[in-house]
Amino acid sequence: MRIDEIGKDEGKAGKIGNIDVAVYNGEDGTIVLDATCTHMGCIVSFNSADKTWDCPCHGSRFKADGTVFAGPAVAPLNRIAFRIESSEIIFD
Ligand code: FES
Repeated sequence: MRIDEIGKDEGKAGKIGNIDVAVYNGEDGTIVLDATCTHMGCIVSFNSADKTWDCPCHGSRFKADGTVFAGPAVAPLNRIAFRIESSEIIFD
């Protein structure tokens, strides 16, 4: 996944390798999260209006940085360490 495909202050869910990721291109930098909802494992998608990651299964919502905004999930989305090379997001 390329960071230059994501607008500023926008997010995009997708795959890097076989990992479901939720990438937020924030004003203060890029955040890469595991897109797997910590409630029961569904995949979140970005809500551009509210700048949240929303889970389609039971309504959990997470802030752009992965912290819980609304349950039933109680744990944040997991952050993934990454680096960017030529706009490409890469895991070590
Ligand atoms: S799996 Fe996401 S809210 Fe239940």
